[in-house]
Amino acid sequence: MTVEKEKAEMALERLDKILSGTGRWSRREVKELVKAGRVTVDGVVAARPEDKLDRAAAALAVDGEPVDGEKFTYLMLHKPGGVLSATEDPRQPTVLDLLPPHLRRLGLFPVGRLDKDTEGLLLLTNDGPLGHRLLSPKKHVDKVYFVRVAGTLDGADSAAFRAGMTLEDGLHCLPAELEVLEEPDTGLVTLREGKYHQVKRMLAARGKPVTYLKRLSMGPLALDPDLAPGAWRPLTREEREVLGKLG
Ligand code: URA
Repeated sequence: MTVEKEKAEMALERLDKILSGTGRWSRREVKELVKAGRVTVDGVVAARPEDKLDRAAAALAVDGEPVDGEKFTYLMLHKPGGVLSATEDPRQPTVLDLLPPHLRRLGLFPVGRLDKDTEGLLLLTNDGPLGHRLLSPKKHVDKVYFVRVAGTLDGADSAAFRAGMTLEDGLHCLPAELEVLEEPDTGLVTLREGKYHQVKRMLAARGKPVTYLKRLSMGPLALDPDLAPGAWRPLTREEREVLGKLG
């Protein structure tokens, strides 16, 4: 076999793997879609879910709607309280346990950790370089959290956040924002970094321990208000594109 032919064959993957890897359908659903003649490859109705194709070259569509045969998978999860931001744990449930089995096998990992009791936006992907870019302090990707504290937030807390705090344990925090909301035990915190328990530690240092924490956004990616805690969905093409532009 020529090197070119070998390379071309290596680029081939099963149709059901490509479609289920988008997170939109399970393998069983893909099988049904193909059986019903709803999947086309380069305009031709696909015959079998196990047919092989080059995802970079083929034009895939379901019900006439183009589907990106992307190499990586990107899911938005509304992390509920009580699960770990980890890929596996011998004793406790992790965010991956919230996914169906075919998506647990793709090597997905959470981009950045939320504490076990923290809720909200968590991106799951197997795109390592994107994960690094989103977490790199150099990229200054803002993370916005809704927070509730025991006590009342005020302008002095916001000023301390803005100035950049150094905590008693020596942790130096970059300038951050704290907007006090109408209910003064609640606020919006914007961080440009993600140190261990950072929001909780900053507010504990102000004498106002956090009682509830939820991440609302990460850079250009905002938690979908239609996602209930524990629910997930694939990122839309627009969401993937803005993340891709983070450079
Ligand atoms: N800050 C915290 O204290 N906890 C989180 O989960 C995220 C940010």
